[in-house]
Parts: sequence; structure tokens; C-alpha cells
Amino acid sequence: CGIVGYVGHRQALDVVVDGLRRLEYRGYDSAGVAVLTGPGQLAVERKAGRLANLETRLDEVGRDGFTGTAGMGHTRWATHGPPVDRNAHPHRDAANRVAVVHNGIIENFAALRAELEADGVELSSDTDTETVAHLLAREYDATHDLPASMRTVCCRLTGAFTLVATHVDEPDLIVAARRSSPLVVGVGDGETFLASDVAAFIEHTRDAVELGQDQVVTITRDGYHVTDLHGEDVETRPFHVDWDLSAAEKGGHEYFMLKEIEEQPEALADTLRGHFVDGRVILDEQRMTDQDLRDVDKVFVVACGTAYHSGLVAKYAIEHWTRLPVEVELASEFRYRDPVLDRDTLVVAVSQSGETADTLEAVRHAREQKARVLAVCNTNGAQIPRESDAVLYTHAGPEVGVASTKTFLAQIAANLMVGLALAQARGTKYADEIAREFNELAAMPEAVRKVLGTIERVRDLGRSLADAKAVLFLGRHVGYPVALEGALKLKELAYMHAEGFAAGELKHGPIALIEEGLPVVIVMPSPKGRAVLHAKMVSNISEIQARGAHTIVLAEEGDEAVRPFADELIELPAVPTLLQPLVATVPLQVLSAEIARARGYDVDKPRNLAKSVTVE
Ligand code: G6P
Repeated sequence: CGIVGYVGHRQALDVVVDGLRRLEYRGYDSAGVAVLTGPGQLAVERKAGRLANLETRLDEVGRDGFTGTAGMGHTRWATHGPPVDRNAHPHRDAANRVAVVHNGIIENFAALRAELEADGVELSSDTDTETVAHLLAREYDATHDLPASMRTVCCRLTGAFTLVATHVDEPDLIVAARRSSPLVVGVGDGETFLASDVAAFIEHTRDAVELGQDQVVTITRDGYHVTDLHGEDVETRPFHVDWDLSAAEKGGHEYFMLKEIEEQPEALADTLRGHFVDGRVILDEQRMTDQDLRDVDKVFVVACGTAYHSGLVAKYAIEHWTRLPVEVELASEFRYRDPVLDRDTLVVAVSQSGETADTLEAVRHAREQKARVLAVCNTNGAQIPRESDAVLYTHAGPEVGVASTKTFLAQIAANLMVGLALAQARGTKYADEIAREFNELAAMPEAVRKVLGTIERVRDLGRSLADAKAVLFLGRHVGYPVALEGALKLKELAYMHAEGFAAGELKHGPIALIEEGLPVVIVMPSPKGRAVLHAKMVSNISEIQARGAHTIVLAEEGDEAVRPFADELIELPAVPTLLQPLVATVPLQVLSAEIARARGYDVDKPRNLAKSVTVE
């Protein structure tokens, strides 16, 4: 979910709605706002569906009823209760004096709800959040101190939550609390902001303060005050945001995702920049010693979704370069199966947002077992890097499209640098070999640019596939994770049945799916670099073509052997085998986006998804 709070000199409604627009990627099942409109008065509006529905509703009821300079808003990704108006945030107490918005899950909400009901409180929604509104109202009646009430209530909550609250008797302040889900304060001139992400207020100020775990902040137009849950003042970490609003705008594209696909050469170049200095690969943050790195005897990569696929790619390189065993695991499975971890295990946690709950919990489990954790993350100061022993940031810039594109390529590059850093520490590669690998990586932005220059044909192809029932994706070696990512993109964006398979596995079952006209996308290895695999793939393609498949083949320029078996051919520049996913993924992103557009879907905001999933 996305959260915004504001106290200042502008109309809060405008600031909050603008902020929500930039946070809509965090969820778009419903949206709502609350504004303190005068002594003892609170105006609230909520609406199921996208923010646009809320805006239409605000126009209908008239925005005049929302005049005021303190307010807050929420854009929801439903957890408790279906996405209907009644469950949209803000939630209020019975007397309409307290309004609360929330991101996360309050795990003991059933007990709290029962307690309130036993006291005669009637709850009007199915959410866990509403209990907080009632508890806060009760506490405020006893203390007449909103920050203190928030602290007391938070001490009663278990689970993950970020809460923002107002009370009609405190019209000049807003209080918020954070456990797990992110919250940042924006410090302006005579105005102060709260948001899940700086994107919500960056147009007004770039001075921000990040809240830590179990902290409570009170904002007024003159500034902010942070304490722990016991009311003790705590030190905060101010930072300055160095990207601007235009980076988060669409830059002339119909969708953010299309812009982000085009930004991939820069995302790669920025991620690599500054990480190979005086012949050595360097990380961004290292709170473990070089000796610790040398002692690593096993690597786990844990991640979710697209980030997990970046880990699958890295496994081939890290094992090859370091001779360390590498396991890649879905973060949501990792900690629940008692993995074998000790202080010589390195867990690489890959997460664009740095706040994915499944990955964060995997990190915590690994650290409890004394393993070291290295985070690969795109968000400075997010929770996962904060809790890790070392960090390598992907500098892909803000990614707004819910389906990851540029951060995937940046994650692959960063994961490969982790492999090189390990090879360097362990001495499994000579310095000149590491330099050569790094230089090959450094040539990839140009190769990706070349692919982007030839993408028009893929667009046409995408449009022609709009009516397909299903699409299969095949690959071998590093082409296998590319096939998985291609299929995931198509599911996410075009809501089509899509599956990625290891091409060698086809004959053991999936070949039964092949029927006349079924589109099958095949990622071919290089005929020179991987001649044996290439030959096997050619046989696999001829087997499925013979059974009627419509073959769409991604192959290296000059790959003549595959031509007779390709109903459609997409050519890729020749690059080193381990780096092929960086070029091969790009046409698959474009293909899915184009199929989705042809089917009339919003590629930036696919149904049922959220970019940042802060619940397990
Ligand atoms: C969500 C998004 C995916 C993303 C995954 C992991 O499910 O919809 O696109 O790959 O989370 O996100 P992370 O921020 O941890 O990379």
C-alpha cells in the first residue's frame, strides 16, 4: 500500500492526491483521503478501484468540502477484506474524530476486534486497520496526547505496520508509526510530508528523513519529532534525494514500462559505474571483512518474482567463476524449510524495493543462523540493505511499471559483480581475468542499445499474437531463466497462460502441450560459444515444429543453422554466453508489453499485482 501525510501551507487535498498518484504502483485496489477541515471537523472520502475513481468522486461531492492544510491519503493493495468502498482507507472511530491509514498486516487483529466488540464498539469494515482507529480514539480520550496514544496502541500490535493518524482535536499535527513497511519524512519550508516513498513529495522537497523500526514521528508545518515506542527521542538519518521528478515521469511514453525498457542501457551502465577501481571489484557497503568473504563456502541467492530469475542467471556465473556451490531459492520457501546455514554461508538477497516481506524475513532468518547477508537492492536505505552485512546497489533509478524490466537487467549485472567480488576474494580468478570479465560486462549497455534499435519488428509480432490462447518459452543453460522471465512477463502483463521450460525437459512431459499453431518462444544459445547445446536446441525445435508449433526464435546474428526451423526470427548481437540474458530478455519484455497493449490492458498496473509486496 502507499501512504501520504501532509501538514503545511498548501491545500492538503491537492498535495495528498498528487502524492498518491506517484505511489499508485504500490497498490491500486482502492484509494482514500482525509483532511482536517476545521476545529473538530474531518472530511473523508474513499473509493474502490484506482485513484481515478476517487478523483471522480471528489469532483462529484465537491472539493470545497476538503479545504484544509493537514491531511493524509492511502492507496491500497487488499489484504484483509475485499477491495470495496467499505474497506478502503482511511478508517475512523465511531465518533468520526480519528482517521487512520495503514500499510501492512496487524496479526493480532482478531483478538483486538473481539475486545472492541465486547466493549460494544461496532466495526464497519472487515479490515485490521479499523481496530487501530477505535483503539486510538479510546486512548486519546484518556491522555489528550496523540503521539502518546499512538505509542501505547503500537505496543499492543503485532505484525508489520506503518500507520498514519489524525485526531480532530489536534488539527495541526499528524502522527505516524513504523514497523517493517517503509516510511519517510519530507522536510520542506513551512511544510512537512510523510510517505511510503520519496516519489510522493519529491516535487516539493528533496530533503528527507528515514524512519527506523518501531519509531513514532509527529509532523507539524514547522518540522518533525521522532521517538521510540517508549517516548525517548531517537536519532534520525536525514538524506538528500539525488534524482528528480522527471526521472519518475513518463518522458513522452504512453507507459512507464516502455520508458523503463528503453532506459536499460543507462540502468546497466549506472549499476556498473564505480565498481571496478584500480583493478578491483568493490561493493557499496561492506560491514564484513575480506577474510569473511574469503571464508564463504556456500552461496544462497534468495529473492522473489523477477529478482529470483536474476538469481538463477547468476548461479551459472558464480559457480563457474568461484567454484562455490550456489543455490537459488524463492525467499518465501527459504526460511520455512530449515536450510543449512552457518557463518561461512553467504546469502545474497536480491530485491528491487528492498522491502519485500518474503525476502526480508529470509534475510532475518539467515542472520539468526549466523550466515552473512549481502543485499542487491535498488532502493537506498531500504530495510533489506539496512539489515545486511554488505550491499551492492543497482542504480536503475526509480522503476514505476509494476512488472520489473530495467531493474532485472541491473540485478543480473550486480549479481555478476558479486560473483566477481567472490572470485577476487577467494583467488579463483586472476586479476586480469576479472578485469576481462568486467570489461565484457561494461560493453553490455551498448549491446542492449543495439537490441532496442531493432525492436520494431517485435512490436508487430506482439500485435499478431494478441489472440493466442497460451505461449510457451524454452531455453537451456542461461537461456532457461530467460524463458522463465519471458513467461512471467506475459502472465503479469497480458494475463495469458504462459510457461517457461528447460528445453531438455520438454520431451519428459510438456511436449504434450504442443498443438497446431501454439506459439513457442525459443532462446537459442550461441552456435559458436555453446555448439553442443546449440545442436541439441535445433533438434528440440524441429521436434516441436513437426508437431505444429509456431516457432519464435531468438538467435545470435549469423546463426544460419536455426533459420529453417524459425517461423519468426529475432536476431540478437553476439555476446559472451553468461551475458546473453542481458540482450535476450529485452525482446521478450517488448513482446509481452505489446501483446498486453493489443489486448487493451494497462501495462503499468496489471490487475491484482503490486510493485512492492510488504506482506508474506
Ligand atoms: C512483486 C512484483 C514483482 C517483483 C517482486 C519482487 O511481486 O510484482 O515484479 O519482481 O515483487 O520485488 P523486489 O522489490 O523484492 O525485487
